Amino acid sequence: MNNNAVQRYTTPAITLHWIIGILVLVMIGLGLYMTEIPRGTPERTFYYNLHKSIGVTVAVLVLIRLWWRFRNPPPPLPSSVPAWQVQASKLSHALLYLCLILMPLSGFSASQFTKYGVTYFGLFKIPPMGWEDKVIYDFLQGIHGVTAVVLITLVVIHVAAALKHLLFDRDNVFLRMLPGK
Ligand code: HEM
Repeated sequence: MNNNAVQRYTTPAITLHWIIGILVLVMIGLGLYMTEIPRGTPERTFYYNLHKSIGVTVAVLVLIRLWWRFRNPPPPLPSSVPAWQVQASKLSHALLYLCLILMPLSGFSASQFTKYGVTYFGLFKIPPMGWEDKVIYDFLQGIHGVTAVVLITLVVIHVAAALKHLLFDRDNVFLRMLPGK
């Protein structure tokens, strides 16, 4: 047992972590599913709009989470964690945040070069700021697709590392991100 064992993430950090985590999994599933729906169908329009709306919401939540993290740095890892794992966790968290910014940014930017723009949960339309341009759209969607592969890889590593702490290391690293005492 060490001094860090009782330190936890703050409640806003925990809440945002799990909301963003669930939404990102939903978004990856939606992204992969919707591109398989036949073009020109109402179903495709529905799922694309849903994907864009949740994606814009995730972007706002990630910015709030980053702002909060900047003001409330996460508790340090227990001293039992080897130095290379501390560095690896810092790197993977930085890359996760980078992907969580790049995903909505590339998706939103790509939508600016279509005639559709973004209809936010059917409530209002964010009209495209650009023009219809397939080359720019494909380029930005290329970034979206490549970043998705990196993000999925990072999520798998992230979950595996969290489970390692819970099941093998049996330290408080997983538990301190759970709500409650
Ligand atoms: C965390 C946020 C996001 C995640 C995890 C995510 C994930 C994905 C994934 C996995 C795909 C499939 C990629 C492929 O098949 O190449 C996709 C496609 C797409 N995403 Fe996102 N996305 C996010 C945000 C956004 C946002 C904010 C927008 C637009 C406002 C957007 C617009 C699109 C579009 C239009 C496609 C389809 C591309 C095509 O038709 O080829 N995404 N997304």
